[in-house]
Amino acid sequence: MCGIVGYLGKKDALPLVVDGLKYLEYRGYDSAGVAVHTGSKIEIVKAVGKIQDLERKLKNPPKGRCAIGHTRWATHGRPSLENCHPHQSSSAKIALVHNGIIENYNVLRTQLQEEGVVFQSETDTEVLAQLIGKYYVDDLAEAVLQALREVEGTFAIAVMAQDKPSEIVAAKRAAPLCIGVGRDENFIGSDALAFIKHTNKVVYLKDNEAAVLTAKSVLVRNLRGKKVNPKTQTLSLDPASIEKGEYPHYMLKEIYEQPHAVQDTLDGRISPQNDEVIFRELEKHREYLSNINKVFIVACGTSWHAGLVAEYLLERYARLSVEVDYAAEFRYRYPVLDKKTLVLTISQSGETADTIAAIGEAQSLGAKVLSIVNVPSSTIARNSNMVIYTYAGREIGVASTKAFTTQLVVLSLLTVYLGLLRHTLPADQATVMLHDLKCVPIEISKIFTEVDNIKRIAKAFYRHSNALYLGRGVGFPIALEGALKLKEISYIHAEGYSAAEMKHGPIALIDENMPTVVLAFKGRRYEKILGNIMEVKARKGKLIAVASASNDDITRVANEVIRIPDATEGISAILAVVPLQILAYYIAVEKGCPVDQPRNLAKSVTVE
Ligand code: F6R
Repeated sequence: MCGIVGYLGKKDALPLVVDGLKYLEYRGYDSAGVAVHTGSKIEIVKAVGKIQDLERKLKNPPKGRCAIGHTRWATHGRPSLENCHPHQSSSAKIALVHNGIIENYNVLRTQLQEEGVVFQSETDTEVLAQLIGKYYVDDLAEAVLQALREVEGTFAIAVMAQDKPSEIVAAKRAAPLCIGVGRDENFIGSDALAFIKHTNKVVYLKDNEAAVLTAKSVLVRNLRGKKVNPKTQTLSLDPASIEKGEYPHYMLKEIYEQPHAVQDTLDGRISPQNDEVIFRELEKHREYLSNINKVFIVACGTSWHAGLVAEYLLERYARLSVEVDYAAEFRYRYPVLDKKTLVLTISQSGETADTIAAIGEAQSLGAKVLSIVNVPSSTIARNSNMVIYTYAGREIGVASTKAFTTQLVVLSLLTVYLGLLRHTLPADQATVMLHDLKCVPIEISKIFTEVDNIKRIAKAFYRHSNALYLGRGVGFPIALEGALKLKEISYIHAEGYSAAEMKHGPIALIDENMPTVVLAFKGRRYEKILGNIMEVKARKGKLIAVASASNDDITRVANEVIRIPDATEGISAILAVVPLQILAYYIAVEKGCPVDQPRNLAKSVTVE
């Protein structure tokens, strides 16, 4: 949430910072601003709205070789010019951009007001700018460190001073921040996406570290002022992979990337004979994993839905007792864990604040944490005892698509791995499951032949304001995920339910104005689903069924049918989410919604 960019070097800084902000716009897009050091002073330009709105205000852009920028996702104070970053100290000596929440901002604000400071905004961030301004004499890093020692909460910041035209100070605690190390130039980004076109050499700041940047140097200290030797990593992220290419939206591009993303996630992880799952990353934990007696799955949003699918799989095939919880609930609920509990967290970004905190909580209670993460070098990857990466590639569209399918693939592999390790899954059944998993990329590609059918359905249904999504077994979390996709990008109210639960309340909603999307794929609950479909139909409900290719009887009962290839129940869950993503996408397009940047949402939720 909120994106930070900074540049120092020989080039004109503003275009580089604005370009970097465009790549971080997924982190927040209710306002944006830049501060450019022109050599003699700091010039600030801000705009409410998107980066395009900021660009419109940059017709006569300030020139300089040192600049910082920010794209905001509002926490304290509505989106307005006053609340937009960069914020300045009263003397205008200091300019600062911030991601995070200063939790004791009220106390600090009152103290500063008593000292005569007049605040210009409602934000927690301005408190930090004023505090640094108060301490600043001629050593910017020292003033930043002094101010940060008084601050409670989370922050990633970049700070400039009026009389330091070639220096930026950056610091972080529990919010992501990295430095791009170039030749005679250095960059700052909330995410390396901001500068990956220019350098792939990256220093990830650790919590409570601050860096002093000039064009030629990066000096890192901890908040007590002690020097730290930063580790520079070389990222393998291909800059071309973060472009939209021929697609109108990242979400559509990422939907179509799924066969490839799943293939990358599977590569090298199934033995040629399909008799073994190869997780080298778990090798030294085999003994621990064979002795666990409980799994606690912890995640947020779409990743939580992946966890719900895993609950069915792990219980059935690995015979493990599984509990699934939202990270924000888990971290505060006094969970009962011990050394035999595996806490399994799932996260695309690896930066979700509640999931990070849940990991800390689990570890402090003696459990080991295995995380399934998409972004390498993320905080969750670093903080976990074991990590399995999904290789979905960067996901930029706010609505998660390819990250979800690759999470389901890793969770299926993990199920087989644990089933074999614990001798709960017969070898011949494991071989069939692994063979089927290898077919997922090609099976997903076949679903794209349904796109015209789905577009037609989207045109017929986009005017509705409510929808129900029903499924059973592994189809239930897929129904939840389908409903989430629809509401987040098309703003249509949608609810996902276990189809069996429908009779306990939601059925009261059904009439001709309430379309129901039903997951009706093959499996041991298929007949029951057909029964639920009849119940909806009897109440004049309109039905859109996602059905297996050979389920002929479905055409008699559903108004619309979207086909997925025949597969086992577990694989069908992975396949069935794809048409639901496509349906949500085309409904949002019909409604003219900003698909990649839905209102109020940010891609990584880095505040709790
Ligand atoms: C929905 C979506 C979110 C994320 C959630 C967790 O499309 O993307 O619900 O799944 O914010 O994010 P990660 O997986 O990055 O921890």
